[in-house]
Formats: sequence, structure tokens, C-alpha cells
Amino acid sequence: MTITCNVSPASFLVSEGEIHAAIHRHSSLIAAVQRGEAQYSGSLGWLDVKTQTIEELVRVAKHVQSVAEVMIVIGIGGSNRGAVAAIEVLKRTSTSPTTLYFAGDTLSPTRLADALEVLKTKSVVLNVIAKDFNTVEPGITFRMLRSAMQAKYGCAYAERIIVTGSEGSGQLHELAQKHGYTYLPFPSDIGGRFSVLSPVGLFPLAVAGVDIQNLLDGAYTMQQRIRTGQDENNPAILYAVLRSLMRKKGIILESLVTFEPDLQHFTRWWIQLFAETEGKTDQVLFPIGFSYSEDLHAVGQYVQQGPRILMETFLDLHYNLDNLHIEASKEVVDGFAYLDDKPFSLLNKTVYQAALQAHAHDGVPCIELKSDSALDTESLGGLFYFFLFCAYLSARLLGVNPFDQEGVEQYKRNMYAELGKSGYTK
Ligand code: PA5
Repeated sequence: MTITCNVSPASFLVSEGEIHAAIHRHSSLIAAVQRGEAQYSGSLGWLDVKTQTIEELVRVAKHVQSVAEVMIVIGIGGSNRGAVAAIEVLKRTSTSPTTLYFAGDTLSPTRLADALEVLKTKSVVLNVIAKDFNTVEPGITFRMLRSAMQAKYGCAYAERIIVTGSEGSGQLHELAQKHGYTYLPFPSDIGGRFSVLSPVGLFPLAVAGVDIQNLLDGAYTMQQRIRTGQDENNPAILYAVLRSLMRKKGIILESLVTFEPDLQHFTRWWIQLFAETEGKTDQVLFPIGFSYSEDLHAVGQYVQQGPRILMETFLDLHYNLDNLHIEASKEVVDGFAYLDDKPFSLLNKTVYQAALQAHAHDGVPCIELKSDSALDTESLGGLFYFFLFCAYLSARLLGVNPFDQEGVEQYKRNMYAELGKSGYTK
């Protein structure tokens, strides 16, 4: 898969000269990011896709498929958004006797009751994922579901628990050793939001029947393309530099615009990736996302003629489904005869161009990320890698540490204090 990054010149805030100068100015930082900076070596385990081995994941996934109708995946934030996103996109092509059910990403009692009901009525395996097994949402959801598993399966419940976590005291590895759960590593050099192409994302996807080697192959192809070459022809560099220049021109929001509703969870993954990676300075874009054409009938008016605080990144990536044609309607004259005999997919491509032109014409800065491949497992792997790399580079162009999230830790500490965890005071 190749991605090209285009700008719509009608409205564009940034000139070619400014882009060129910015790439030149940052060339040594860009080269260092492409190699992987030594100061972040403890967080760059995702940068080289080839180091990943999948045999053990596939073996455990096959076992799960042989014993469970449902695997409940417990995790939050970076520990689950990648798998949620990929499952939504690949659900039509991935065949597996086991479906995934996601839990542990909320403290809503209703959602917990829903998960308990699944556990009661189906044959279930739990996969609990946490890099730091202190986060309350997955931790307490695991406790509640684990008790229900013990009640349902007795001593054999432990064979139905797979933990993906860190080593160390109180962490999931220790729990697995004490209680006989199956253990998969959450690599110590990969943070949650960068983990979709590690066991964190790959294992649930393997259980769901996704060809995870194919996903990694797509990521590797993308890695090869974007970790060399430091000019406007490298789409990752152009995209990252454009984002930083946009913010300097007063743009505050970046909206990722997709035209396949199945990409809505991918957009949520993208939002988390950029918000948590970059949101450590006021010079940063706030990532939001919309699904067109539906959202053209919700936010399109504001985007087009509201305040000039927003840029749009149009993601030109679609399923390959060209066999649906619009038949003429002979008996009912419905006013749509001008669409007779056209392929249905033409409509989605047309609304893409129509929205892009309308918004650019009214002065919305629009970027296009265009893929030369249809939306499938391999291109999704490429897309994941593309944005992981861009988030790293974008954060470095802002001068922030891409891999910490001190703000999130603060809310966690407040919660621990409020709920009486030892060592934390109000
Ligand atoms: O990207 C991140 O690092 C975070 O979003 C984490 O994934 C999230 O806070 C959950 O962390 P953990 O799985 O350690 O509970």
C-alpha cells in the first residue's frame, strides 16, 4: 500500500516554500526519528515491525477458538482501541467460531451487567490486557468477570484466562504464575497507544480470525516506505510537517474525515494516538473525527462556514465493492432516474470529491491521504504503521515526549486517593 499526501490548493494556508523550508529546517530531527532516537529507545519497540514473531499468538488463538464462543477482551485506552478498530474494519472477511466482546473500558454498571450476561449465556474465555495493572477500569472488571468465571467453570476457570501484561510485582505476569493463567507479554518497550501491532492487538485479532501476518506485512511495507527519504515525497513527513505548520497558522482542530462507517473506531484509535502523544503543549492540534456523508448532515455546515479553526484530513480509503449497481426503477418514479445503471460505489467517491471541493472552496484547509489499495487486512496494517510513525514524528516536531501521559496519571492518582488506595492521599 502506498499513501500519498495532497493538499487542496484552493484554500491552502501554507505555501510550498514554507513546507520545503520546514522539512529542511527539521531534517536532522526527521532523520533521527526515522532511525529511532536513542533517548526513547525504551519506547520504540513498535518501530521495527520485523522483530515481531507470531507463532505463540497463533497457537493460543487456535486453542481459544476450539473452546470458546466468545472471548471477552478487557482493556482500556491503548490496550484495546487498536483491536476494536481493526475488528470493525475486518469483521466481514475474518472467519472464526469465536467472536470478540470488549469490556473493561468503562465504569458503567450497565456495561458490566451486559458483559456478565454474555459470560452467563456463552462459552467464554477472558483476555485481560494491561501494561500497568493498576488502572481501575480493567482491573475491577477483571475481578467481577473472574468471580463469575470461577462460579461457572470451577477450578478449570484458570485455563480460560489469558493475560497480556507486564512483568513485576503486582503485574499480570505475576498473577499468571500464581494462578495458572496463560501469559502473553505486553512488550516493556511499547506503550499502550503504540501497541496495536504487538501481542496486545494481534492476539485478539488472531482469535477473531484475522490474518495477523498479513497485517504485519502491510505494516512492514509501510515502514520501508516512510523510514527513508526526507522530502515532500515521503507522505509521513509531509503530513507531520503540515500538521505542525497548520497549528502555527492558527488552526486548532484537525478532523479526520472517513467515508466508510466501519472506520469510526479506527478514527477513535487515531484520536487517542494523537491526543495522548502530543497533548502536552498549547501548540498542538486537537484531533477529532467525522464519518461522511452522514456527518455532512450534522457538522458539515459548521465545518464549512463556521470559524476558521479547523483543518480536515480526508482519508481516501474504501472497501473494494464495485459489484453493486443501481437498477432503474420502472414502476416507482422516485426522482432518482439520473442514477440509473451507475455503480453504487461511485456515489461515495462523488460525495468525497463534492465535500472536499465545497469545503476547500470556502477556505477550509484540506489535506488528502490517498491510498492506492482497497481497505483490507494488509492496507490496514500499513495505515496503523503510517499513523504510529506520524504521531511520533509530529510530537517530536512539537518538542514533546511522545511516550508519556502524565496528565492521565494525575486523574488516576485522584481516583486512588478518593477510593482509599493505600499510599494516596486526597
Ligand atoms: O496509550 C496509553 O499508554 C494509555 O492509553 C494506556 O493504554 C491506558 O491508560 C491503559 O493503560 P493500562 O493498560 O496500563 O491500564
